[in-house]
Amino acid sequence: MPLTVVVGGFFGDEGKGKVISYLSLVDKPDICVRTGSINAGHTVNLGGRTWRVRIIPSCFPNTQTRLMIAPGALLSIPVLMREVEETGARGRVWVDYSTGVIEDRHVEAERSDEYLMKTIGSTGQGVGMATVDRVLRRLRLARDFKELSGMLTDVPREVDESLGRGGLVVVEGTQGTFLSLYHGTYPYVTSRDTTASGVLSEVGVSPRSVSDIILVFKAFVSRVGAGELPGELKPEEAEARGWVERGTVTGRLRRVAPFNVELAKRAVMLNKPTQIAVTKLDALFPGARGKRSWGELPAEARRWVNWVSEELGVPVTLIGTGEDAMDMVDLRRGEAA
Ligand code: IMP
Ligand code: MG
Repeated sequence: MPLTVVVGGFFGDEGKGKVISYLSLVDKPDICVRTGSINAGHTVNLGGRTWRVRIIPSCFPNTQTRLMIAPGALLSIPVLMREVEETGARGRVWVDYSTGVIEDRHVEAERSDEYLMKTIGSTGQGVGMATVDRVLRRLRLARDFKELSGMLTDVPREVDESLGRGGLVVVEGTQGTFLSLYHGTYPYVTSRDTTASGVLSEVGVSPRSVSDIILVFKAFVSRVGAGELPGELKPEEAEARGWVERGTVTGRLRRVAPFNVELAKRAVMLNKPTQIAVTKLDALFPGARGKRSWGELPAEARRWVNWVSEELGVPVTLIGTGEDAMDMVDLRRGEAA
């Protein structure tokens, strides 16, 4: 009954989409469940094509995997329908009866809220406002919309039955540990708990069912929106290092800082991962670019990865070396680190 949870270790945009799309192709999960909402964009690159998904699980490259949306997630019907078409996933996307639905008025209310938009730097997708309605018990759920009637299922039961049959289930977390409503840099956070425990609660699966927690770090730290970012670099410095990135949902320039081991240690404490994934190793060591085995990595890149494992006390098992989902050094099956 393997259940793998993938969560972000910094402020989102660590490359969870890449890691999850890789897992979908190599581990062939039976089910992949998306949590969170459309404020989080996950980028998947494969064979020269790029997709940016905000609600469809990043496992869509594996056409055998059933793609599900958690009861604790919030979807937008137009975004869902568009992504089903873009990813060619029609017929294998399932929505829980109780998944929340964001409506136009949530988006309008959020975009006209100066505190959220200016002070916090919200992505303006209506997620916080829809969450308020859910807490006040007046949000409409997936079961209330006839457009969704052909896609509805009981996600916790599907997950439980798959695990009972020995299937692999991947739970896709969104954003990052320090954007958590409870454990992040409040009030500069998102409207939910983004840690492994929060993500499990959104799906409706017990912590006892979990076999692996993969915590994803990028080789440097990035943040969009307001809030502290220790060691933040000036834009010119970010450019000189080749660390310029833009937000998937909003197109905003991301603020960046060097890899922060103290922050990473706290993320490890909060999520207790069994494994760590590090993405964009090639941003620190250009010689690592596109490499797919440990032995091919430059010696200094290997030393840095070993240092991360030792500092955090958790093995780094997945190492991203380029955009493509398959640009990955996978140490899970024993290749020496
Ligand atoms: P909101 O969740 O859209 O209201 O945004 C609240 C804060 O979380 C803002 O600083 C956003 O930039 C940040 N945020 C929300 N979702 C993401 C994400 O997926 N990646 C990075 N930052 C995010
Ligand atoms: Mg993102």
